[in-house]
Amino acid sequence: MTSAELAHPWWRTAVVYEVYLRSFADSDGDGIGDIGGLRARLPYLAELGVDALWITPWYPSPMADGGYDVSDYCGIDPRFGTLDDADALIEDAHRLGLRIITDLVPNHTSEQHPWFAAARAAGPGSPERARYFFRDGRAGGEQPPNDWISAFGGPAWTRVVGPDGIAEQWYLHTFAPEQPDLDWDHEGVRRDFDAIIRFWLDRGVDGLRIDAVPAMAKVPGLPDAGHAPGALFESSSWVDSPHWDVDSLHDVLRRWRRIGDAYPGDRVFVTEAVVNGPERLSRYVRPDEMHTTFNFDYLTCAWGPADLRRVVEETLTAMEPVGAPATWVLSSHDETRHVTRFGRADSRAATMGFDMAAAPADPALGLRRARAAALLTLALPGGTYLYQGEELGLPEVEDLPEEVLQDPTWERSGHTARGRDGCRVPLPWSGSAPPFGFTADRVRPWLPQPAEWAALTAEVQRADEGSTMSLYRAALRIRRSTAALRDAPLTWVDAGAGVLAFERGPSFRCLVNFGPAPVPLPADGSLLLASGPCDGDLPADTAAWVQRQE
Ligand code: NOJ
Repeated sequence: MTSAELAHPWWRTAVVYEVYLRSFADSDGDGIGDIGGLRARLPYLAELGVDALWITPWYPSPMADGGYDVSDYCGIDPRFGTLDDADALIEDAHRLGLRIITDLVPNHTSEQHPWFAAARAAGPGSPERARYFFRDGRAGGEQPPNDWISAFGGPAWTRVVGPDGIAEQWYLHTFAPEQPDLDWDHEGVRRDFDAIIRFWLDRGVDGLRIDAVPAMAKVPGLPDAGHAPGALFESSSWVDSPHWDVDSLHDVLRRWRRIGDAYPGDRVFVTEAVVNGPERLSRYVRPDEMHTTFNFDYLTCAWGPADLRRVVEETLTAMEPVGAPATWVLSSHDETRHVTRFGRADSRAATMGFDMAAAPADPALGLRRARAAALLTLALPGGTYLYQGEELGLPEVEDLPEEVLQDPTWERSGHTARGRDGCRVPLPWSGSAPPFGFTADRVRPWLPQPAEWAALTAEVQRADEGSTMSLYRAALRIRRSTAALRDAPLTWVDAGAGVLAFERGPSFRCLVNFGPAPVPLPADGSLLLASGPCDGDLPADTAAWVQRQE
């Protein structure tokens, strides 16, 4: 490694592209995206200009929660391919200069994982059950052991029925009942995951994205949390919860960091942690813990200069003392796509698809803002996560027929929240009708694509200089070649009410006009890139990158 790489490892400023594998590209004609499809499209991603790919779980899974219910952590689900395919993908990606981050799901297994099957069969008090949280119910066993709630709605406990048909203990699941929580105080669980982490690092992955980390420790005795009946899982406002962001989980993060540090080549751990504010979040990225963490405050923030500036400042301030880079993310496989969100009167996002789905969105306004948000995000210090399809300006699909909805949120909410399928619709690659090159002609993708996506395919956008894909490609090219966007701190500049402006170094300036009137662009600069047409002035809901004379 060169001294520059040692001082500035790749992950501190990487642009990571999230591949939601089953919706990216299908190579075998079953309507479900797979590793072969991703391999075939790697040149597209290299050309787009991203640094790394985060691939959502590809392990054998009954798919009760889109693969976040894992039944074998060291295999590949046959729907996605084989271990050989995964090896070939890692090799191909590296050849193209792309790094690979896989998804680790340690808080819970699938109910079909052999550990859980054994635990269920072994009965109360058995060592097999000690890997999970099996407890007797209250009120003579009839009521759950405590008041904890599931992220998908309803109680976090499900009662086991024995082979004799008699109901016995309850088990804990922070997510769906098909996703029983592991007990991370169990040394066997810790040791098994050490081996799983090494299994993937040995295969050459560059990092792991770690799912639902704040759920991994529970206060001993599992006391009530004080949740009101029907309360939503709003972990970003919880303080001193007995089942979320409990401090003892950090021991496990330190253990994993030691494993990662023993590997050559700057492997990275990224945590998913929706916690109460940036200070709590910064604890996950202390120097001996994880490297980076997703920034949900930014992901859920409303479109507006004051809120966005506050989140940016709070994030940078919180990360500074622990020396971790900030990360920025606008969309993911769990959130309403930001093209749609930013077109709504209330543009905040809620987690897990419990959002304002009924609120009308203005698609043209949403797209204009989303393009401006891309330039804002890619100019901020630190790393960025892009969600597949945002480079095409895809909106949320809000009218999926009820019978195709698969997200557990839909059932668990009693059909009041549609969940996250609308952001998971397979990508449109080419052609004028579904499946738009996602899968073989005449095959139905696992979720239906809207006919209007004919205008948004990668093929159409590649040929159009004004397309959202062209904007992302240009922005990523400039980001790569501008040293200040890697190294220089952010300095705010006063550019008037309703405008967010900041500099990175003496000559790079980013301006975002939140409207309503156009504002003048700096007279002493040349326009590098703008998110919409600019004629001397920066129109409403538009961002620009400007090169100023030093
Ligand atoms: C976060 C993942 O991103 C989401 O898709 C999943 O449902 C939960 N964690 C549970 O694993």
